[in-house]
Order: sequence, then structure tokens, then C-alpha cells
Amino acid sequence: MSKGSDGGPQGVVTWITGAGSGIGRALAIHLANAGARVALSARTVEDLTAAVQIVPGRMRMFPLDVTDRKATAATVAAIESGLGPIDRAVLNAGTHSPMSLEDFSADTARRLMEVNYMGVVHGLEALLPRMRARGRGQLAVVASVAGYRGLPTAAAYGPTKAALINLCESLKPDCDRAGIRLQLVCPGFVDTPLTARNSFRMPDLMPVEDAARELADGLDRGLDGDRFEIAFPRRFTRKLKLARCLPYRLYFPLVRKATGA
Ligand SMILES: NC(=O)c1ccc[n+]([C@@H]2O[C@H](COP(=O)([O-])OP(=O)(O)OC[C@H]3O[C@@H](n4cnc5c(N)ncnc54)[C@H](OP(=O)(O)O)[C@@H]3O)[C@@H](O)[C@H]2O)c1
Repeated sequence: MSKGSDGGPQGVVTWITGAGSGIGRALAIHLANAGARVALSARTVEDLTAAVQIVPGRMRMFPLDVTDRKATAATVAAIESGLGPIDRAVLNAGTHSPMSLEDFSADTARRLMEVNYMGVVHGLEALLPRMRARGRGQLAVVASVAGYRGLPTAAAYGPTKAALINLCESLKPDCDRAGIRLQLVCPGFVDTPLTARNSFRMPDLMPVEDAARELADGLDRGLDGDRFEIAFPRRFTRKLKLARCLPYRLYFPLVRKATGA
């Protein structure tokens, strides 16, 4: 993948799913401003239309529902014929619905798995053969620190993100051999329309532009070295990484204390 003289993504063809709002949108703007040619996907055409006008000439929209396997393959083909081979893809589309004991529902669990997990799988299925054939490419999968361990009200969301983490860990050695840089993105709380729905206090809530900068920086580092995981904001994600190592007899009391659940 070519880089500009400033080390930025000059001319790099980048596909971002979930780019109509929040982290995906902010990342698309950040990368386009740095010189990348960015393909934006999401379902809401009005959001994409507004976003592509922010950096004219560098952004194009490719509306897509990532739960549609065939449409995802067709979108990847359309981007590559319109903009050229995809150098970098950020599979970021996702959603959240709280679910606890009172509202436990297979419908909610299935819907989140379809969007958050299968949406990424569809993207990978479309991209991996093309990148393998070229012997290069960069893939970033947006999971969450909520995938590290079980958290209250995340009984539907958390498993989708845990599955993504496991998926990326499983694929990484093969991707390395194929010349494909696979990275895992684990954000903590970022201020987006998704988290605006939360009524609880969100520790270390990060402005979305800062999150986009961290993510873009992590992507560039992923090209140079062997940085697999991009996690931010660092203070919060470090604490959750530590909590990941705790035995259950310490983990559950800590969760109870931190969340009041
Ligand atoms: N914000 C946080 O604190 C946080 C923390 C950890 C992880 N994350 C993850 O980061 C990613 C982005 O979240 P965000 O906070 O930026 O949320 P957001 O503002 O709600 O943006 C989500 C984007 O995904 C798109 N999307 C949803 N369902 C889709 C589908 N079926 N097909 C295609 N696009 C779809 C949405 O557009 P349409 O509805 O128009 O399709 C929207 O553009 C998600 O995977 C989320 O789980 C966020």
C-alpha cells in the first residue's frame, strides 16, 4: 500500500462500513482529509449523501445492508471497478440493544449477531479472496471491549463482539502468511449516536474525532509493524484488559461495584 510523504494514506482505496454516522463517518472524513479515496457504506442514503459532501472528490457512497451476503459481494465488486482494488477495509457497521434477564429475547440476540457478526463475515468473504490473490491488503474489524468479558445488559451485544475477537485471532496467522494485515479494533466508550442512547455514566467517554484519529493512527502502525489490536481510550481499555485476567471470584464483585448491577 502506498503512503504519502507525510506517512498518510495518499490515494489508498479504503472501504468503511457503518460510515453514515459515528466512528465510521468520522474515520472516513479523517482518512479522506489525509488523501485516501474512501468508499462509504451504510443503509441510510441520506446520511451517506451528507457525509460524502464533506470532503468532495475523495468520498463515494455505496449504500449497503451488511446482513445481505450477495449485496455485500456486489458492493465490493462495484467499489473495485469504480475506485480500484480495495487496499484497506474497516468493517465497522454495528448496532447495540441492551438485553438483560427481564427482556431476554432470541430475536434481539439473532438480530445483533446478524448485523455485528455476520455483517463482518460477509465483508471478509467478499474481500479475502481478492486480497489473497493480490498478496496484500489491510483489514480492520471493529469489535469492542464489551467482547472481552460478559457485562450487565450486554447479553446480546457482548457475544457478537466476543465472536469477532475470536474470529480475528483465528484468522490472523493465515492472513499473515497471505500478506494481509488483519487488525482488531476494540473501542471503549465513544460519543456517537449509538452511545447517546445510554442513560448510565460512561467512563472516559471519548469524542468521536479523537477516536477516528486513534483508529487511523493504529491502521498506519499496523502497516509498519505487527500491531494487531487497536484499543482506545487507553486508560479505560487498559483497566478492562486487566479485568480480563481476573478470576471469577474477583471479577463479578468488581463488575457489581463498577456498574451497580
Ligand atoms: N460508540 C462506542 O462507544 C462503541 C464502543 C465499542 C464499539 N463500538 C462499535 O463501533 C461501531 C460503530 O459504532 P458507532 O458508535 O459509530 O455507532 P453509530 O453511530 O450508530 O453508527 C453505526 C453505523 O453502522 C451502520 N449500520 C448499522 N446497521 C447496518 C447494517 N445492517 N448494514 C450496514 N450498515 C449498518 C449505521 O447506518 P445505517 O443504520 O444507516 O445502516 C451507522 O452508519 C459498531 O460496530 C459498534 O459496535 C462503538
